[in-house]
Amino acid sequence: DKGTYRHFMLKEIFEQPAVIADTLEGRISNGRVLESCFGFEAPAVLDAVQQVHIVACGTSFHAGMVARYWLEEQGVPCSVEVASEYRYRRPVIAPGTLFVSISQSGETADTLAALRSAKAAGCLSSLAICNVPESSLVRESALTLMTRAGREIGVASTKAFTTQLVALRLLAIVLGRRRGLAAEQEAALVAALEHLPRQVEEALGLNDAVEAMAQFFGEKEHALFLGRGSEYPVAMEGALKLKEISYIHAEAYAAGELKHGPLALVDANMPVVCVIPDNALVEKVISNLQEVRARGGELFLFADSGVASHFSEGTHLLQVGHVDDSIAPVVFTVPLQLLAYHVAVLKGTDVDQPRNLAKSVTVE
Ligand code: M6R
Repeated sequence: DKGTYRHFMLKEIFEQPAVIADTLEGRISNGRVLESCFGFEAPAVLDAVQQVHIVACGTSFHAGMVARYWLEEQGVPCSVEVASEYRYRRPVIAPGTLFVSISQSGETADTLAALRSAKAAGCLSSLAICNVPESSLVRESALTLMTRAGREIGVASTKAFTTQLVALRLLAIVLGRRRGLAAEQEAALVAALEHLPRQVEEALGLNDAVEAMAQFFGEKEHALFLGRGSEYPVAMEGALKLKEISYIHAEAYAAGELKHGPLALVDANMPVVCVIPDNALVEKVISNLQEVRARGGELFLFADSGVASHFSEGTHLLQVGHVDDSIAPVVFTVPLQLLAYHVAVLKGTDVDQPRNLAKSVTVE
């Protein structure tokens, strides 16, 4: 039931504060992550983890890409790959490798096949981050951490993605704890998670402004999405959303890569979307965006309120509130989902059922 919403996708975008809170429920307490939420055997397995292989497809792969920044920050070696490649390579599975699959449906053929091949190759253990408890992926994985996004009907994944990020944040904390993450640092990360539903709610408050911004994309054929650090995969996810439902060709780049090729594409017809959290990379982003401006590129920016003043002139700028860097990818995802949604509505596409796509890809 879509309720008062025009599409399931919009309803699901607006459900995010609630489902994020649900995904945290009973899993954090007194400034700590309760690792029993990963399953009874989890503590012993987590003790033995030396590195992590994350494997997933599509949007779930982007969640894995964000998690790599989070895990490495905690000193955990981590690789991330799309399942269709992983399953046909011969990945070196060193002793102590935790295989982490991420999937909304738990039935994605390539992700399942990758899990089976990692198990056959002798990974230490397997963890599924999944939204469907009775799915094959959950049944076949030793450990599970369920996202509690509720049923996702829109083919374009939204609330599944942000709840995956929440689950992965919990994973980074429990592994980090074994590598010197101090109790007070953990408490700060947990506090940021506790603020997340409210901050996502605030980001949803940009809906009307994003709808107005969408007007500029109606006639465009291409768009570039930029981000740095853990916002690079957020840009990838924003670009995937836009192409999936509006059929506009969108590409994401790590902003530092601009000079290495994509800058050649930039002119007045190329909208450039960038997400800008308040972190150590902001000066770098400023100089990347100056390069875009100098080529006449039109900038559409989503910036933390702490840094927004650097970007105000001559750009389309929307401010999200001040967001802790540890959860910024979750919050910055929201306006990009809204942007894709409103552009698609403007173009009159079938938002919930984009052409050529299935909700669950159960064949290769
Ligand atoms: O069910 P899964 O998370 O395994 O699905 C993976 C992808 O097929 C999925 O995320 C796809 O990319 C979405 N349509 C993106 O919106």
